Amino acid sequence: MRPHVVGHLAVSVDGATAGFDVDLARFYAMATLWQEDVTLVGADTILAQEAAVRSAPQPGPREAGPLLAVVDSRARVREWEGLRNLGHWSDVLALYADQTPARPPDSTTPELVTGYDRVDLAETLQWLGKRRDARVVRVDTGGTLLGVLLELGLVDELSLLIHPVVVGSGPRWHGDFTGRLDLAPANVEVFERGVVWLRYCVSG
Ligand SMILES: NC(=O)c1ccc[n+]([C@@H]2O[C@H](COP(=O)([O-])OP(=O)(O)OC[C@H]3O[C@@H](n4cnc5c(N)ncnc54)[C@H](OP(=O)(O)O)[C@@H]3O)[C@@H](O)[C@H]2O)c1
Repeated sequence: MRPHVVGHLAVSVDGATAGFDVDLARFYAMATLWQEDVTLVGADTILAQEAAVRSAPQPGPREAGPLLAVVDSRARVREWEGLRNLGHWSDVLALYADQTPARPPDSTTPELVTGYDRVDLAETLQWLGKRRDARVVRVDTGGTLLGVLLELGLVDELSLLIHPVVVGSGPRWHGDFTGRLDLAPANVEVFERGVVWLRYCVSG
């Protein structure tokens, strides 16, 4: 069975995911709410953090932590060992496609190959549910990966932590998705300094 998929993103009032200061402490504290089995991350989100990963403490895998699965059909991610040892995740899983460039022969990164030139996200989620017993997947992305998942009808819940700023341009939380989404409100909370949390179930 496909796991429950939730997108939790920090956004500006006009829906951008970059170009403003995120309340990171609150964002990551709230991210623990779902106790996800798998954190599904876009390669560009990982690449934006690779320098920080290299210099971060490396306590080793956290056995009780979620699995980190990164969509990486172009094999751009390099810091697999560093990510595994960050102390957040129990292990890492590289999500590749048939046409993904060859990996180094000594690579020990666990991988799942689906799709031809891009990772097949529907098949990936089915596999995670069936083979890794994943019930909840939290998507961590600047919007691109979430947009593709929305396009495929693979998102069950949205959590937007809205920051009191309008940035005008830049990537949006829904990526390239331009369709219609019917949302059922699940929660609204107002925090200090005008940060608002909107939580919705995606209907249908
Ligand atoms: N505000 C927030 O909450 C938040 C959260 C996380 C990150 N960020 C910021 O957002 C930025 C990165 O986010 P992003 O939105 O640019 O990228 P992203 O979602 O992290 O990465 C894009 C992902 O989408 C995949 N993809 C695109 N089209 C696809 C398709 N048709 N089928 C399957 N997979 C597909 C790409 O795979 P391949 O390219 O491997 O094929 C890649 O893994 C960074 O600057 C980061 O700091 C913000």
